[in-house]
Amino acid sequence: MKKTEPHIVVIFGASGDLTKRKLIPAIYNLHQQNLLGHPFAILGVSRTAMTDEVFRKRMMEFLPEDKTREDFISHLHYESIQTSEKEDYAKLKDKIDALKKELNAPANILFYLSTPPNMYSIIPNYLASVGLNNENDGFKRLIVEKPFGTNFESAKLLNKDLLKYFAEEQIYRIDHYLGKETVQNLLVLRFANSLWEPLWNHKYIDHIQITSAEKLGVEQRGGYYDQSGAFKDMLQNHLMQLVGLVAMEPPTVIEADAIRNEVLKVFQSIRPLQKETLSESVVRGQYTSSSIKGEEVKGYREEEGVNPESRTETFAAMKLHIDNWRWGGIPFYIRTGKKLPTRATEIVINFKPTPHHLFDSVEGVQNKPNQLIIRIQPDEGILLKVGLKEPGAGFNVKTVNLDFHYSDLSDSYVPTAYERLLLDCIQGDATLYARGDNVEKAWEIVQPVLDEWENNSEFPLHGYPAGSWGPLESESLISNHESGWRYPCKNLSNDGEYCEL
Ligand code: BG6
Repeated sequence: MKKTEPHIVVIFGASGDLTKRKLIPAIYNLHQQNLLGHPFAILGVSRTAMTDEVFRKRMMEFLPEDKTREDFISHLHYESIQTSEKEDYAKLKDKIDALKKELNAPANILFYLSTPPNMYSIIPNYLASVGLNNENDGFKRLIVEKPFGTNFESAKLLNKDLLKYFAEEQIYRIDHYLGKETVQNLLVLRFANSLWEPLWNHKYIDHIQITSAEKLGVEQRGGYYDQSGAFKDMLQNHLMQLVGLVAMEPPTVIEADAIRNEVLKVFQSIRPLQKETLSESVVRGQYTSSSIKGEEVKGYREEEGVNPESRTETFAAMKLHIDNWRWGGIPFYIRTGKKLPTRATEIVINFKPTPHHLFDSVEGVQNKPNQLIIRIQPDEGILLKVGLKEPGAGFNVKTVNLDFHYSDLSDSYVPTAYERLLLDCIQGDATLYARGDNVEKAWEIVQPVLDEWENNSEFPLHGYPAGSWGPLESESLISNHESGWRYPCKNLSNDGEYCEL
């Protein structure tokens, strides 16, 4: 296990939701497992004036009520500064120096930017102005939350700005999907078994689907979401990273750059989307009001903070091709949406049918192809669908499930994504963070779609009733594959059922 040096975590945007809901509970869990090392401190920073005591009290809200909570919160401190005022950073430096002295620790500092994105290049600049980027007396690392830019140009600019003040090795661009245990397991499944790699290519795979379905709508985030939409919020980042891991070549070693180089190569091989054929490869939708089990459910345009004439998509599906030796001719289908019937993220590897059909099938379809389903969440696990003989006379083939659920490993603790990612950053491991060139490339891939949607008001935006599986048009995207989309239910093995809310 890697060693954790004494350190200070400085969280910008400390009065925000992410800090109390995700970051502090993640650090608490690390503390509980003795993974944080000693000494350590957490310094919350934001504009809101507050004492350490008030900050501690606020942060307790999402922590379990027990004795260790008291010990943990004694490590929390708070400093209020005008984060957009350069002069205030001297005050911050003094506070950090004082903490350092109190802890008698080297200046190992992790700065977490959990602020509105317009602060992402300002804060690093002002930190550098007081020398807080200098690693002579200890590491200085920067975690940058999403969204990393809002398009290709702005992502390039942000990278350029950050690199003026911090080196690439100091910058950790977070994509919380990479911190999910089952996403990392994808690498182990692929590269710790000799079974899959020989089959993991265009010769044996027919197509690959990646679905990230959410049951929730935009909740209290209408204002943010209406400026973003499913494509920028989920597809460009989380789903593209999954494409990278599913499609990449085996890395030479499990190290940050080796893996990120392979993901970049996948992105570089993705066939550029053409304006003329965009409507054949991209479908967008927006949920409309509906009645679910007798209850009226609001449409997206009625949500708080959303423009009543909004054309922002809450559903997006895309077909893409990876033009390389492994994947030539094999389509990848990715989709994501809010207010779908269930919450499920999964990757479905659809294998080709056998070349010759020997048996009858009880399901009416001869020789149903094998499917490998990698369930990212919930009910994390792996399901392999194979044809077996139905007991009795004749040779009737029935598709059965060979399934594994993570929950069966009941004695293993599964860390949350933020827990894993924060610890990795504290330990200087950037493997599960996105590198600057990867993020830029992922934006470049989707940019033709963003341009078309911005410039062509005729590009269809299909309505879909809240609680359904998105616009019917997403079916035509995949219609030349007999299997169509897999409709994931809440539980992994309840597959094949069309979920209703
Ligand atoms: C976030 C998006 O990045 O991911 C949210 O901004 C989305 O809109 C969330 O709900 C989904 O994350 P998870 O871990 O619940 O799949």
